[in-house]
Amino acid sequence: MLEVTTTPTVAFSDQKPGTSGLRKKVKVFQQPNYTENFVQSIFQAVEDGFRSGTIVVGGDGRYLGPEVTQTIVQLAAANKVKKLIVAQNGIMSTPAVSHVIRKYSADGGIVLTASHNPGGPDNDFGIKYNIANGGPAPASVTDKIYEISKSLSSYEICKTLHVDIGVIGVYEFHVRGSLFTVQVIDSVADYVTYMEEIFDFAAINAYIKESQLQLLITALNGVMGPYVKAVMCDKLGLPDSSALACTPLPDFGGLHPDPNLTYAASLVTAMQDGTYDFGAAFDGDGDRNMILGKSAFFVCPSDSLAVLANHLECIPYFRKNGVNGFARSMPTAAAVDLVAKEKKLPMYEVPTGWKFFGNLMDAGQLSLCGEESFGTGSDHIREKDGMWTVLAWLSVLAHTKKSVEQLLTDHWKQYGRNFFTRYDYEACETEQAEAMMAHLTALVENGSLVNQSITSATGKMYTVQKMDNFKYVDPIDKTVTSKQGIRVILSDGSRIVFRLSGTGSSGSTIRLYVDSYEEKFENTQLSAQDMLAALLDIAFQISKLKEFTGRDAPTVIT
Ligand code: G6P
Ligand code: ZN
Repeated sequence: MLEVTTTPTVAFSDQKPGTSGLRKKVKVFQQPNYTENFVQSIFQAVEDGFRSGTIVVGGDGRYLGPEVTQTIVQLAAANKVKKLIVAQNGIMSTPAVSHVIRKYSADGGIVLTASHNPGGPDNDFGIKYNIANGGPAPASVTDKIYEISKSLSSYEICKTLHVDIGVIGVYEFHVRGSLFTVQVIDSVADYVTYMEEIFDFAAINAYIKESQLQLLITALNGVMGPYVKAVMCDKLGLPDSSALACTPLPDFGGLHPDPNLTYAASLVTAMQDGTYDFGAAFDGDGDRNMILGKSAFFVCPSDSLAVLANHLECIPYFRKNGVNGFARSMPTAAAVDLVAKEKKLPMYEVPTGWKFFGNLMDAGQLSLCGEESFGTGSDHIREKDGMWTVLAWLSVLAHTKKSVEQLLTDHWKQYGRNFFTRYDYEACETEQAEAMMAHLTALVENGSLVNQSITSATGKMYTVQKMDNFKYVDPIDKTVTSKQGIRVILSDGSRIVFRLSGTGSSGSTIRLYVDSYEEKFENTQLSAQDMLAALLDIAFQISKLKEFTGRDAPTVIT
């Protein structure tokens, strides 16, 4: 029988989960009792609702993950958890954790990830709780965790319990007169099996061979390495030389594992000479994706979602289950809305954050969704899914026998193009960023810009039609989520959106999103930056971003 100790602790006041769980510097989590307090708060918040008492644990392989996994095992044993399903070596992608929660009917899961943020002793760590549907916990749960964390005075732990999480197997212990089980499972097996049910691997394989499609995939040293090997190399014949940075490293080899044009520049450069037809990158925990065509032709995530929505019949899963509806986050450009209209399917607009899609999926109203932040996914799980997106794209290529660029061009011909760009100003002084948002909020409240015309430096005039702060009423449970981003809607339908990121860990990150619609096919071929330059200038005039932050240029442009 293992001994349980009740350890006195002092509550921390800063354990409020953000867009995707609690994300802080590693050094913050290394403070005595910091991690124990937060995990104890999770268990206390959720254990009353346990059915099986099973919780899944996985992570993106970043620094501190193995130690925290052991701590979770020791805390779980001393709380009401009956069984922990732990990924081998603690490594499992976020989408795979979502799948495992669902497959084994667990009550929830703990994902040790800071997603796309850099890792290592001086960088970020994160703990995220997912609920029984496999998706990120909604505010009702994270608020409860936060409330408990603020007044926690002790935690329960089995300090002498140790499990070798490197070895697959079932380990049983007796704690407080009952059985506590730890099952260490293969990190990729369940997920790969599921992908084979969803997609027609034989058809994708045949197409890659007959068209001699050249692929280049990078895992940016994140969790996706073993998945790329298992799916792309072993099942689809990708040579090892085309699977880049596929060893998960605690510090991602110094990379910033975020699949965009800035942080996955190595992929862009490698694709530029036209050797490869299709490229993809994933983030640290494998839920984000970036898709590139030949010569590094960039697929904007908003377009990626729309093209997939237009071709779901290429995927066996949707042929079998049907398509119930589409959704996107508010800042995502509305390209998919046009597909929904054409196909006469429901379309939903939710705040930024994957958790907002879950209710709609559980209610059978949503099949495919995505965000401008390089996330795409479906109701096969309750997280966005990088590998799923790559397989979805390969299915469309195999079915249509068109190139990536041809698919986009044909899409714009049929629907017109929703030009989109996002400017990120990372690590701004929080006070300055908040002052800018307060200035914008005041403009929303006093309505002084409505019906005003503003002229850009290039001489283009826009009239403000409406300004608001996005508010969402969940169609299923009617939960209201307000203040989700300031929107400036112009009379030609163009939009400017401002938000503060909820996933950063140093200072504040301002996100400025701009989009406009172009119907004329000739114009759809122009560059997004050129097309949106005037709108960006209007955005700077309205927000006074440069004056408030002292920043002349963004850190990342998407
Ligand atoms: C994570 C979430 C996404 C969200 C993204 C950006 O990846 O899962 O749903 O779009 O972060 O969030 P942020 O608050 O940083 O803009
Ligand atoms: Zn991620």
